[in-house]
Parts: sequence; structure tokens; C-alpha cells
Amino acid sequence: MLCGDIGQDSETGIYYFDRFGNLELLLREAGVCSVAPIPLGPRPAPPTIPATDVPTGAETGEFVLADAHWSLLPSPTDRPIRELRIYQVLPKETTHIANQPRIGLANAESARMLLGSVPVEADGSAYFRAPANRPLYFQSVDDAGRAVQSMRSVTYLQPGERRGCVGCHETPGSAPPTRALLATQRPPSDIRPGPPGTRPLSYPLLVQDVLDRHCVRCHDDGGGETAAPVLTGDVTGPFTRSYENLRPYVRWYEWGDASITQVVTRPGRGGADESPLVEVLHDANHHGQVQLPDDDLRRIYLWLDANVPFYGTYREPDRRRQLEGQVVGPPGLQ
Ligand code: HEC
Ligand code: HEC
Repeated sequence: MLCGDIGQDSETGIYYFDRFGNLELLLREAGVCSVAPIPLGPRPAPPTIPATDVPTGAETGEFVLADAHWSLLPSPTDRPIRELRIYQVLPKETTHIANQPRIGLANAESARMLLGSVPVEADGSAYFRAPANRPLYFQSVDDAGRAVQSMRSVTYLQPGERRGCVGCHETPGSAPPTRALLATQRPPSDIRPGPPGTRPLSYPLLVQDVLDRHCVRCHDDGGGETAAPVLTGDVTGPFTRSYENLRPYVRWYEWGDASITQVVTRPGRGGADESPLVEVLHDANHHGQVQLPDDDLRRIYLWLDANVPFYGTYREPDRRRQLEGQVVGPPGLQ
């Protein structure tokens, strides 16, 4: 570091200082701050680590996850993790202004799609192929289909790259597990797509379809016998009747902390964990007669864990189609 411009007083030298208090000047140069010396000596050359990216024009890379049960904050111990959901955040193509257009209940939310999920082995390991050059994030999911922990920032793969990680995540200073991982004893998994209405996310396809089949026979607005809240899919503006009426029964992460506090992502406090709707669905008293098939229950959990979105797109024509319950594909520029 050159010190000339901050004056003579800041010039420092390097001294040999022993425990008897002897101080011997080794180096002092005019105009140079000499700090942080590194002793050099002969030593073996470090091992050559093979490059992890192979620029072959591949469109995918691979992730190896050592143990999904590890977590920086304590993770519930009674919920073994069975799979990993992989989401892709979509580019905000239309405006740069938050909430224009609005994705759903959550403030300043971004559109996304669920690419699908991959299995997590009994030792917590996963090994899978994923698309390169896409902003991806993960959710670890238990037996019942509920997220145990979520990542909310994103990570990327370069084409052909292999990336490893430990859980959600390891504590600083800890070493990754040294045992052989079950997942790497087999070829990498391919991502298995999720249910309808997830590529990109769409409330009418993912959730309203379930409500139509199991709930609206009681929760419609047909008069005397009707139970509140009304859960029909009528369009009420930018959203639908059921989406607006379910608001008190769901929780989400958002900028502004109005629902689940968003400062950190806490294990065991995902959307399905926090939303009162889940308790209503399991309530034996009046809903004992409504037995949601497991697949449909998992769709509701997925929607809650995905942060209760309505839309999965920013584009006006596609949003109109989603509002009407039609299928739209992922954007061309993914
Ligand atoms: C389901 C839990 C979970 C899994 C599994 C997970 N992460 Fe994360 N990750 C987190 C959490 C929690 C954070 C902290 C920020 C946040 O809430 O998103 C994070 C943050 C990150 C960040 C951002 C760091 C920063 O400084 O911005 C990167 C990069 C990352 N993870 C990479 C990975 C990779 C690579 C894997 C393995 C394939 C992985 N993660 C698996 C939960 C997870
Ligand atoms: C057989 C009729 C019936 C079906 C089918 C039904 N419900 Fe209900 N539900 C009711 C009744 C009756 C109430 C009002 C109970 C009360 O006020 O205690 C209710 C209440 C609710 C409430 C409000 C609970 C509260 O404490 O505020 C929600 C939310 C709800 N149901 C959601 C659903 C969903 C979601 C489905 C479909 C999976 C569904 N219901 C299917 C009859 C039904």
C-alpha cells in the first residue's frame, strides 16, 4: 500500500519482535505502508483440483447435496426429508416497479415456476441435473409433502458445472460430511415435474381445481345451506373470489413483514406450517366429511409453501389467460 499521500506518520515497517521485547527492523521503505507480511518458505505444490465447469455447450449442470437435514438454524428433527423442490425465479420483463403487476397476496413478489422435485435419500443426500444459467432455489420437503425449510435467495449453475452444498446450510467453520453419499452411488436424478399449475405457478389450475372438486359444493354462494367462506373461482378483479376469501387463512413471506417475518428463513416455519388453512383441512369436526385425497392435499401445501401466488407471469395476455384458468407456458426468455 502506498502511504505517500496520507503523510509520514502512517508509514509502517516490518519488525521481528521476540518475547524478550527485542525489536529488530526488517523492512521500512519511504512512502510504503508495510503491513501483513506473509512468511515464504519451500513447500510442496498444492494438489491440482480439476475444473468444475466443462464448457461443452451443455444446457445443464449437476448439484450434489450432502445432507438436507443440516441447517444453519435448528431444523425440526421429527420430519425426515424425502424430496427437494426446485424453483426457478422468472425475469421481470414488463416493468421494474414492485407490485406492477401484482403476483398475489405477498408484497413485492416475483413470478416463479416449480421445475419439479428430486428424491432425497435416507442419509439426506441428493444428486440431480438442473438447467444451467437459471436463477434456482430449493425447498426441502417431508413425508407429508410440506416444506421443512426453504431457500429464498437464488443460485446458478454454469453449463456442465457441478456444484456441491451441505443442507440449508452448514454452520460456518464446519467440514462437509466425509462419508460416501447414497445419492452419488447412482446416476443423477432428473427433475420430476410437479402437478398442473406449477410451470409457471397458477392459482386457478393448482388450487381452484381442488376447491371446485371438494369444497364449492358447500362453500358456494347459493343461499341458506352455504358455508362461509365462498370458495368459487369467479373473477373479482385481478384475482378470484376464493383467492381473496382465503386471505385470512394463509400466511406468506413478504417484504414489509406483514405476514411471516421475512428477515431470515426459519426451518419449520414455511407457508404450510404457518397457515391456519391446514388446520381447517385437518379439522375432524365439520371437515371430517371432507377427506382430501393425498395428491390434492399436497397441491394445497405446495401452493402455501410457494408463497401463495396467484399468477406466475408478468405478461398481460398470459395473466388474462391464467385468470380464466387457461394453461400458459413458461416465458421464452427463461
Ligand atoms: C431447503 C434448504 C436449502 C437447501 C437444500 C439449500 N439452500 Fe442455499 N440457502 C438456504 C437459505 C435459508 C439461505 C439463506 C438466505 C435465504 O433465506 O434464502 C441460502 C442461501 C444460499 C445462497 C446465497 C448466499 C448469499 O450470500 O446470498 C447460495 C448461493 C446458496 N444458498 C446455494 C445453495 C446450493 C448450491 C445448494 C445445494 C444444491 C443449496 N443452496 C441448498 C437454504 C437452502
Ligand atoms: C360438507 C360441506 C363442506 C365441505 C365439502 C367443505 N366445507 Fe369448509 N366448512 C363447512 C362448514 C359448515 C363450515 C363452517 C363451520 C363453522 O362455522 O364452524 C366450514 C368452514 C370452513 C372454513 C372456515 C373455518 C373457520 O374456522 O373460519 C374454511 C377456510 C373452509 N371451510 C375451507 C374448506 C375447504 C378448503 C374445503 C375443501 C377442501 C371445504 N371447506 C369443504 C362445510 C364444508
